[in-house]
Amino acid sequence: MPSESRSTLISETQPRVEVANALEVSELRFTYPGGEQALHGVNLSVAAGEKVALLGPNGAGKSTLLLHLNGILRGEGRVAVCGQVIGDANIKRIRALVGLVFEYPDDQLFSPTVFEDVCYGPLYMGLSSDEIAQRAHRALAMVGMQGFEERMPHHLSLGQRKRVAIATVLSMDAEILALDEPTASLSPGARRDLMGVMDELPQTMIVSTHDIPMVRELFPRTVILDGGRVVADGDTNVILSDASLLKEHGLEVF
Ligand SMILES: Nc1ncnc2c1ncn2[C@@H]1O[C@H](COP(=O)(O)OP(=O)(O)OP(=O)(O)O)[C@@H](O)[C@H]1O
Ligand SMILES: [Mg+2]
Repeated sequence: MPSESRSTLISETQPRVEVANALEVSELRFTYPGGEQALHGVNLSVAAGEKVALLGPNGAGKSTLLLHLNGILRGEGRVAVCGQVIGDANIKRIRALVGLVFEYPDDQLFSPTVFEDVCYGPLYMGLSSDEIAQRAHRALAMVGMQGFEERMPHHLSLGQRKRVAIATVLSMDAEILALDEPTASLSPGARRDLMGVMDELPQTMIVSTHDIPMVRELFPRTVILDGGRVVADGDTNVILSDASLLKEHGLEVF
């Protein structure tokens, strides 16, 4: 090939950049020590920046799946975060990438003050005290909880504790947020406030919920889990208009 045409070819060829999915779950199976198999081969990919709702009846495996996303539980199969397969060697990095917020904030908050709880993650990451304090203040501001630094977490309302629990992962600069039933048991006002917070956050999100109006409002993509398997995955409006699919999996749209 003449050198001129080769250089043209080269200049016209775009470099191939492989962008890893934020989350890549393949054939994930998990059985609790008591013998209950909760996940039966889950496959799920979430691109960076996507906001995905995880629906399904009680016992479907939603919480179990979320617990695998930062390695709290380890099943058979493969879970990769930003291209890194979760393993012992990278677990610290994975915990910083995936901020998992439990359904019950009391499972997440254990320090004497809100500030210490929000500092805990960055402290674990080994950051300087200035950086830790900066991140903690920023995270509290993001969830509208600035001014609560010295309060005792257990003396806050449920909605406030849920916000602080989210701040504990925002302070780690998590790229992916995995939230388990964030609006459960909140009053309408607290729910609306928290939805505003979630709507503003730019992170990739996977959120388990029974709050279908919230899904319609905030999540373009919906995944339905039932019996430890993904039974539907697609556009939220399409999935939520499929009455027979919803009925089959114990979901109802009002
Ligand atoms: N710690 C545990 N030990 C044993 N089995 C468990 C444990 N946690 C959950 N399970 C079982 O695993 C299955 C999946 O439960 P999981 O909590 O993941 O469901 P879920 O979809 O989050 O339900 P919900 O909507 O009620 O929160 C259920 O059959 C449940 O009984
Ligand atoms: Mg659950």
